[in-house]
Amino acid sequence: MGRDWVQHCSVERREGYGTEAIQIITDYLFLTKDDSTRMQAVVDKENLASKRALENCGSEEEGVLRKALWNAAGKWVDGCLCSTLREEWNEPKILAN
Ligand SMILES: CC(C)(COP(=O)(O)OP(=O)(O)OC[C@H]1O[C@@H](n2cnc3c(N)ncnc32)[C@H](O)[C@@H]1OP(=O)(O)O)[C@@H](O)C(=O)NCCC(=O)NCCS
Repeated sequence: MGRDWVQHCSVERREGYGTEAIQIITDYLFLTKDDSTRMQAVVDKENLASKRALENCGSEEEGVLRKALWNAAGKWVDGCLCSTLREEWNEPKILAN
């Protein structure tokens, strides 16, 4: 899967949609790609909502990638590398088998 930028309207935030979207992507990856061992994401180190949504889906922080992301304000910022291993995912939480 490629690089993407997720954003939705501010009135719909904190309703669980971000967590749900990440869970669906994780389920889809592990259900459809048998050879995938991990799902990884790099998010702005200061973006608490993104980090929390990943954490809700079982993702763990692995480390900091310095000045790895170009943000919406036009600045290089540190990225937080997060991952979920296939064995941590275990089974689909939203998508059906
Ligand atoms: C990041 C984003 C997609 C998350 O979507 P969301 O629908 O708000 O996510 P959720 O509702 O699943 O919330 C996930 C967690 O983050 C927390 N959270 C949400 N907004 C927050 C904020 N501004 N500050 C701190 N925590 C926040 C929620 O309370 C929730 O924590 P909890 O599970 O402990 O209750 C959304 O906030 C957004 O569009 N942000 C602006 C663009 C952006 O930053 N995109 C990501 C680029 S990497």
